[in-house]
Amino acid sequence: MSSQKLSRRAALAGSLGVAAAAAVPARGMTADDAAAGLSFACYQVGDQQGLDSLRRGQATAHPPGPGEVRIAVRAAALNHRDLLMLRGRYGARQPEARIPVGDGAGEVVEVGAGVTEVAPGDRVTAPHFIRWLDGDYVPEVFAHDLGVTADGWLAEYITLPASALVHLPEGMAYAEAAALGAAGITAWAVIETLGRVKPGDTVLTLGTGGVAILALQIAKMNGARVAITSSSDDKLAIARDLGADITVNYRQQPQWQQVVRERTGGRGVDIVVETVGLGTLPQSLACCAPNARVGLLGALDQGGGQAPNLSPLYFGNLVLKGITSGSRRMLEDLLRACAMNAVRPHIDRSFSFAEAREALDYLDAANHVGKVVITDFG
Ligand SMILES: NC(=O)c1ccc[n+]([C@@H]2O[C@H](COP(=O)([O-])OP(=O)(O)OC[C@H]3O[C@@H](n4cnc5c(N)ncnc54)[C@H](OP(=O)(O)O)[C@@H]3O)[C@@H](O)[C@H]2O)c1
Repeated sequence: MSSQKLSRRAALAGSLGVAAAAAVPARGMTADDAAAGLSFACYQVGDQQGLDSLRRGQATAHPPGPGEVRIAVRAAALNHRDLLMLRGRYGARQPEARIPVGDGAGEVVEVGAGVTEVAPGDRVTAPHFIRWLDGDYVPEVFAHDLGVTADGWLAEYITLPASALVHLPEGMAYAEAAALGAAGITAWAVIETLGRVKPGDTVLTLGTGGVAILALQIAKMNGARVAITSSSDDKLAIARDLGADITVNYRQQPQWQQVVRERTGGRGVDIVVETVGLGTLPQSLACCAPNARVGLLGALDQGGGQAPNLSPLYFGNLVLKGITSGSRRMLEDLLRACAMNAVRPHIDRSFSFAEAREALDYLDAANHVGKVVITDFG
């Protein structure tokens, strides 16, 4: 990084706007400097034709406006949707200069007028739906979705509304907080909010990706028993190390629902975190105990467009609910619960900011278990 850039970054980082005061140019910085903004490194989604669309770029940060906070990014975490976004398969196409990645964590360096929630030096994260603070889902949250309809975390800096921020608990690493983001909130929404998990329940989740492994960890934190499937025995061994009680290789056991039912003594499972989609939903429903709660969130296999048989819903008195990530409140509750219970999200591999493309390729290859994160932002 150039010394000029370093000194500008230090100058901006030093402009510690006090609460309720407008952000002002830092000492040693002219008003013109502040108006011109700080140039920082980022990645952009480009033309969204595939992972090759990812490109390095420069963006400009201006002093944060009222209620805004500038954050120096320390870690970002990848999700399956980041791959879809670069492939132009996650909603409408976005501007080419859009900065990707919805999950991250960092250090507050500057606050705008009226900000009282955080101060420079604070360690923070945010849900990717930055306007979904609490309460029920409304579709409008998609208009402010980090890494999709708003600039995300794959950059040296991000500017966010203070209202969206959540403090990191003491002792939680930036990469861990980032890893808990979308995947953790989503697993939490199924297990805690929909599932009302209690000790002794059995939770089923599919595959060993980011959401599934966090579902495993959240379920174990609640004293639940966990059943998990995977394409790989090696991945299942890691799942067992993390506490999984029932592990099934769905390649070797295509009728894995029978194994799950047998291994639960014929009773079935109480909560399903359906990370795959409509393609596996019939088998997941076949695993359910009476009154089970099923959160449908995955889109990895949609069953070739064939409507799944939903009759087990009647006979089992089951609840099936679509899940669309979660709120700031859920993220706050999740971070606190993990900190209190010494649960650390399972991070498979960490890449540097310079290796962001390799990190996306690694996620795409699907050899990971849990989360893939990016650190070393320079
Ligand atoms: N609705 C929401 O709010 C929400 C939020 C987060 C994620 N999601 C969705 O949830 C899904 C998982 O996301 P993620 O970030 O956890 O993905 P990920 O980390 O990329 O994990 C994918 C893993 O799922 C397993 N898998 C893939 N295809 C499968 C199949 N046909 N049957 C069984 N397992 C399969 C594989 O694990 P194994 O090799 O172990 O089988 C694979 O490694 C994606 O569709 C994502 O878009 C939705």
